[in-house]
Amino acid sequence: MKILRGAVVLALVATVAIGAGCVPKKTEPVTTVPIADGTIDPTQWGKVYPVEYELWKKTGEPTPAGKSKYKRGYDKGEERPDKLDEFPFLALLYNGWAFGSEYKEPRGHLFMVQDQLEVDPGRYKAGGSCLTCKTPYAPILQQQMGKEYFARPYKEVLATIPKEHQTLGVACIDCHDNRDMSLKISRGFTLGKALEKLGVDGAKLTQQERRTLVCAQCHVTYSIPKDAQMKSTDVFFPWEGSKWGGITIENIIRRLRSNPPSGEWTQSVTGFKLAFIRHPEFELFSNNSVHWQAGVTCADCHMPYTNAGSGKVSDHRIMSPLKNDLKACQQCHTESPEWLRNRIFAIQDRTMSQFIRSGYATATVAKLFEMANTARTAGRQIDSELYAQARDHYEEAFYRVVFIGAENSTGFHNPGEALRVLGDAANHAGKAEGLLRQALSKAGVMVPKKVDLELAKYLNNRGTKKLMFKAEHEIKDPFAGK
Ligand code: HEC
Ligand code: HEC
Ligand code: HEC
Ligand code: HEC
Repeated sequence: MKILRGAVVLALVATVAIGAGCVPKKTEPVTTVPIADGTIDPTQWGKVYPVEYELWKKTGEPTPAGKSKYKRGYDKGEERPDKLDEFPFLALLYNGWAFGSEYKEPRGHLFMVQDQLEVDPGRYKAGGSCLTCKTPYAPILQQQMGKEYFARPYKEVLATIPKEHQTLGVACIDCHDNRDMSLKISRGFTLGKALEKLGVDGAKLTQQERRTLVCAQCHVTYSIPKDAQMKSTDVFFPWEGSKWGGITIENIIRRLRSNPPSGEWTQSVTGFKLAFIRHPEFELFSNNSVHWQAGVTCADCHMPYTNAGSGKVSDHRIMSPLKNDLKACQQCHTESPEWLRNRIFAIQDRTMSQFIRSGYATATVAKLFEMANTARTAGRQIDSELYAQARDHYEEAFYRVVFIGAENSTGFHNPGEALRVLGDAANHAGKAEGLLRQALSKAGVMVPKKVDLELAKYLNNRGTKKLMFKAEHEIKDPFAGK
C-alpha cells in the first residue's frame, strides 16, 4: 500500500500547515461570521457560506450511474432498489413488520424526511422517535416534549415543526456550531449518552474524532424501547459493555437480548419477538479497522477536499467515494483509481457472497422453526431442550446477518470484521439447523433435505402498497458455483 507521506498526519492534525507538494492542500482558513443562535434555516447559513451550501444542496441530485457496484440508491436513470428485492431471504426474515414490506436503499441527505413520508407507513409506527436521525429540529423537540416526543404519533410530532421545514433533513446546525463553525454534536440525548457508556467525555473530543462523530449521530444502530402498551419511551444505542474503538457485535447482541430485552416486533415465520439493528456504519468502522487505526475519519472519505472557486472546501455533497471516482482515497493513496476500485470490489464481492450464504442459511432455520411450531400445535412432542438451544443459535445468526445487511459499505469499512461476523452467522445457523432437524426427527416429522423457503409468499403483495418482487434487482452470489 503506497501512502502519501504526511497525509495521515495531515488528517490527524487538521490545523497543521503542509507545504505544497505531495499532499492535498487543506481548505483555506474560513473567516467565520457568527450566525444568530437558533438559526436552523440552511439558506441563512448559505448566505455566509455559499459554496458549502450549494454542495450540500447537491445531495438532492441523482448520483452518477455505473460507478458503484452494490449501492445504486439514486443513480441517474435507474429505479431505487429495495433491499427486499435485492436479497429475497430478507423478505422472509423481516416478515411481520414494515421492514419486511419496504426497505429501500439509502440516497442523498436532502431526501431523508421525504423518503420517510413516502415509505410504507408502518415504518414510522414507533412515533416521534423516528425523527431523531432525520430532522434538525429533533434536539429541540425532545427537549420541549420530553418522553412524549418518542411516543406521540410521527405525523403529530412532524406537524409541530414549522411548515416550511417539515421535510428538511440534516442541516448545517446538526454538525456545526453557529458561532464559530466548529464541529459539534447536536444530539446529546442519543450519541452524548452513548459516549458516556463508552467512558468518553463528549466535551473533550479531538477535531479528528469530531470528523467521525458528527456522522455517528445517525450512522449507528439504535433501539426503541417500549412500555407495556408498546409505546416508545426512548431511542438508545446498545453500546453497554463496549469500549471506544471496539463496539462489538457480541456486546450489541448481548444488550439486545438482555433483560429487559429490546424486542420491537414479532417475526411471523418463527413467532419470536426480536430486536433490530440499523445502519451500524460507525460501529463496524471503529471496531479496530485499518483505517480507524490509521486515524482516518468518515469525512476523509465522504467529504474530500474539493476545488471550488479560488480555494478548496470540504465536499458537502456527501456520497459514495466510488461515485466521485475515488478522489477521496487519492488524498492519501498514490495508486490509480482503477486499482483502488478493484480493491473495493474485491472486498465487497467476498462480503456479499458470505452475506447471501449466511442469509439463506438463517432463513432455512426460520422455516424449520415454522415446521416445529406447526408440529407442536398439531400435538407432537418437540424436545424443548433442543428447541431452546436451536433458538439461541438462531438469534445469534439472525442479528449478525441483520448487522452486515444494514451496514451500508458491503464490508469495505472493516473487511476482516465483516467476514468474521458473517462466518459466525453461518456457523450459528448451521448448528441451529442440526438441532432442529434432530428435534423434528425425534418428533416423527419428515424434513426434506432441501427446505422450501416459499419466498414468493413473502416477496409479493408486500405491505400497504402491495409491492411485488422485482427479480431484476436481485443481487446474486458473486461466487455462486465456485
Ligand atoms: C441527522 C442524521 C444524519 C447525519 C448527521 C449524517 N447522516 Fe448520512 N444519512 C442519513 C440518512 C437518514 C440517510 C438516508 C437518506 C435517504 O435515503 O433518504 C443518509 C445517507 C447517507 C449516505 C448515502 C448517500 C447516497 O447518495 O446514497 C452517505 C454516504 C452518508 N449518509 C454519509 C454520511 C456522513 C459521512 C456523515 C457525516 C459527515 C453523515 N452521513 C451524517 C442521516 C444522517
Ligand atoms: C453531516 C455533517 C455536516 C453538515 C450537515 C454540514 N457540514 Fe459543514 N462541515 C462538516 C465537516 C466534517 C467539515 C470539515 C471540518 C474540519 O475538519 O475542519 C465541514 C466544514 C465546513 C466549513 C469549513 C470549510 C470547509 O469547507 O472545510 C464550512 C464553512 C461549512 N462546513 C459550512 C456548512 C454549511 C453552510 C452547511 C449547511 C448548508 C454545512 N456545513 C453542513 C460537516 C457538515
Ligand atoms: C477509508 C474510506 C472510508 C471511510 C473512513 C468511511 N467510509 Fe463509508 N464508504 C466507503 C466506501 C468505499 C463505501 C462503499 C461505497 C459503495 O459501495 O458505493 C462506503 C459506503 C458508505 C455508505 C453507503 C453509501 C451509499 O451510497 O449508500 C455510508 C452511509 C457510509 N459509507 C458512511 C460512512 C460513515 C458514517 C463513516 C464513518 C463512521 C464512513 N462511512 C467511513 C469509504 C469509507
Ligand atoms: C486520510 C488518509 C486515507 C484515506 C482518505 C484513505 N485511506 Fe486507505 N489507508 C490509509 C492508511 C494510512 C492505510 C494503512 C496503510 C498501511 O499502513 O499500509 C490504508 C489502508 C488501505 C487499504 C489496505 C487495507 C488493509 O486491510 O490492509 C486499502 C485497500 C485502502 N486503504 C483503500 C482505500 C480506499 C479505497 C479509500 C477511499 C475510499 C481509502 N483507502 C482512503 C489512509 C487513507
